[in-house]
Amino acid sequence: MTTLVTGGAGYIGIPLSEELLDSGRTVRVLDSLVHGQEDLVADLSARGAEVLVGDVRDPAARAAALSGVDEVVHLAAIVGDPACAADPDGSREINVEATLALVHDAQAAGVGRLVFASTCSNYGRMADPSVPITEEGELAPVSRYAEQKVAVEEHLLHSDLGSLGATCVRFATVYGVAPRMRFDLTVNEFTRDLWAGRRLDVFGEQFWRPYVHVRDAARGVRLVLDRSSREVAGQVFNVGHSDENYRKLDIVEAIRKTVTDGEVAYVERTEDPRDYKVSFERIHRELGYVPVMTVPDGVTELVAALDDGRFPDPWARRYRNT
Ligand SMILES: NC(=O)c1ccc[n+]([C@@H]2O[C@H](COP(=O)([O-])OP(=O)(O)OC[C@H]3O[C@@H](n4cnc5c(N)ncnc54)[C@H](O)[C@@H]3O)[C@@H](O)[C@H]2O)c1
Repeated sequence: MTTLVTGGAGYIGIPLSEELLDSGRTVRVLDSLVHGQEDLVADLSARGAEVLVGDVRDPAARAAALSGVDEVVHLAAIVGDPACAADPDGSREINVEATLALVHDAQAAGVGRLVFASTCSNYGRMADPSVPITEEGELAPVSRYAEQKVAVEEHLLHSDLGSLGATCVRFATVYGVAPRMRFDLTVNEFTRDLWAGRRLDVFGEQFWRPYVHVRDAARGVRLVLDRSSREVAGQVFNVGHSDENYRKLDIVEAIRKTVTDGEVAYVERTEDPRDYKVSFERIHRELGYVPVMTVPDGVTELVAALDDGRFPDPWARRYRNT
């Protein structure tokens, strides 16, 4: 079984590529290394992955990457609201146009299945955020990034893809230590700032969001791939756990159990377009998915990695997407 992971040198991509190698798959990565991950892909190659440095917008790169592949996990993207807002044209080209071209090319190449990395941000502002939303809930994207994800989902779920079985996974907001670290994600950022003794401004501490550890996000994708395409094609799975919805206030409290340095300032916000609680019952019921890590576990792991000097300058540009 040969699996192509686009964006396989990214924050989720490296743990996912490792997970798939461990499962006995042959793994090929297509990634343009926008965050300067040359050293990280050398490690991935040493572990047995085939790494193609290329851009999903390039038809020749897509053709080379798809040759002889049985399944595709499509992670490559401009990721996050700020990064997409900063590059509207680039994000449209990569997140929508090149993604639809990849789907087309995968179909033409006879690939059996594709898993698309989507986001719980698609739910946007909910009428009643206290009731966890399921995969059937209304999508109300409030950012360019989420609008782009919704547009691709629409295509995958409502057009004729021939023999290509497509599954959408909507990740909760990811946290945790990984080789291509991201310190621009809430749990990671809050932990870093307090660990360093800095002042942390928390905007709208009462708003809810779901979280999932980066290795659990990878495990979720692997579980989908371990099922036959017939079982999961045309479906959407939220990836996370229903008990892992947190307010920012709860995250600060979890960090405060380990880190007493730094200062927290709560900045009042009466409106947050991304206030949502999500239900993860479907992936639990249908695929038996149970994440291994919780946010407090992730905080402990982050503090240990920072104490060990694994990220000598955790504010470096390479650890964030804008
Ligand atoms: N991290 C999260 O909280 C989160 C939540 C929901 C969904 N997702 C989705 O998961 C996927 C991976 O996100 P991530 O957090 O690992 O981000 P990331 O930025 O670390 O990974 C994206 C990868 O895509 C690569 N890439 C970007 N443009 C490319 C192009 N034109 N051609 C080839 N490669 C390109 C980058 O080099 C990077 O390795 C994305 O699709 C993202 O939307 C992430």
